[in-house]
Amino acid sequence: MFLREIGWTGFRNLETCAIELDGGFNVFEGDNGQGKTNLLEAVYWLATLRPLRATRLQELIRFGERRCAVTGRIVLDGLEHRLEARIEEGERQCLRELKACRPAEYFGALAVVLFTPDDVGLVRGPPGDRRRYLDRAVFTGRPAHLADVLAYQRALAARNELLRTSEDVALHASFEAALAGPARRLLTARATYLERLTPFFVDAFRGITGLEAPPGLSYRPSLAPGAEDALAEQWAAERERDRERGFTGKGPHADDFGLALGERSARLYASQGQQRALVLALKIAEIRLLEAFFGLTPVLLLDDVSSELDAERNARLFELLHGFRGQVLITTTEARHVQTPDAAREFRVEAGRVTRVQASPSAATVDVS
Ligand SMILES: Nc1ncnc2c1ncn2[C@@H]1O[C@H](COP(=O)(O)OP(=O)(O)O)[C@@H](O)[C@H]1O
Ligand SMILES: [Mg+2]
Repeated sequence: MFLREIGWTGFRNLETCAIELDGGFNVFEGDNGQGKTNLLEAVYWLATLRPLRATRLQELIRFGERRCAVTGRIVLDGLEHRLEARIEEGERQCLRELKACRPAEYFGALAVVLFTPDDVGLVRGPPGDRRRYLDRAVFTGRPAHLADVLAYQRALAARNELLRTSEDVALHASFEAALAGPARRLLTARATYLERLTPFFVDAFRGITGLEAPPGLSYRPSLAPGAEDALAEQWAAERERDRERGFTGKGPHADDFGLALGERSARLYASQGQQRALVLALKIAEIRLLEAFFGLTPVLLLDDVSSELDAERNARLFELLHGFRGQVLITTTEARHVQTPDAAREFRVEAGRVTRVQASPSAATVDVS
């Protein structure tokens, strides 16, 4: 799978344009604040219909404009697919092969795995960051996960509202039962994912660090695992406490997962360098899992990662990347910091303008055959 072409209009600070990408390495060089992360966000938005950093869709639209669109031509198993993701009148719209469609029909042509400097905070950050990471990772291999997340959020909002407005016991029981279905699907998907990821994660971590204590991953549910009835019962038992709080205290929305180094919690004990290695191993494992279970080679988006890693880990990362068969989009402030293959395509990003850096004339002559 690779992006042959991507284009945008009205997206963040990016000037309207379309660029043709190489099926392998693509490097985007530019100073800070020029639009490099925005460019990766455009790709991320096209693949997931979700913003990378923004909390509101409106933030994606260029200041002063009312709509935005990102379009892409994707090659998958030799066939070209066309995707378009827009925001019109504040609403998300998606088109596949130039026809408006539902998200469920949209997903499947393009999968991305992203690594940004912010990810390093995953080990120590708040549980919400890890949940979001986990749900995004699950979604990449199983797009239906998004529908489950949204169904759960709707049912949760409905129960929270009921907690504040009603004392009707039967009504409460029915809302708790309605919450249990999507909750059970979320929990199963997350747990299965972490279980499958673990061997790839252990391998990747060893590859990056050599012989450190083996890392571990474990899901930390706030409710005891069980069938739908068992989940609903636990919410019923919590009902009075939840009413005092004014919201549902326990459930998939309050869960976490833990990273460990040997017997120790990575959150408490991992050094800065170990945290980076853990996060990098998570990402590499994510790619390997997609390949092994779904036959999917995602497009890899690397946002300014060289600035976050020390020289040795950086070298390891590029060693690993050179063995990666898929497409890579990488941003950097200094092209010489990224050790890309000779065939890499280079672009400059300047005040939202993205232009191709042509290969030097001598290289071009060699190319003519
Ligand atoms: N909706 C928007 N409209 C116009 N400009 C935006 C919008 N959102 C962010 N920007 C601008 O984009 C720039 C940051 O781009 P970014 O991609 O983060 O830079 P970098 O190259 O450092 O990754 C800032 O100048 C910011 O003001
Ligand atoms: Mg950036």
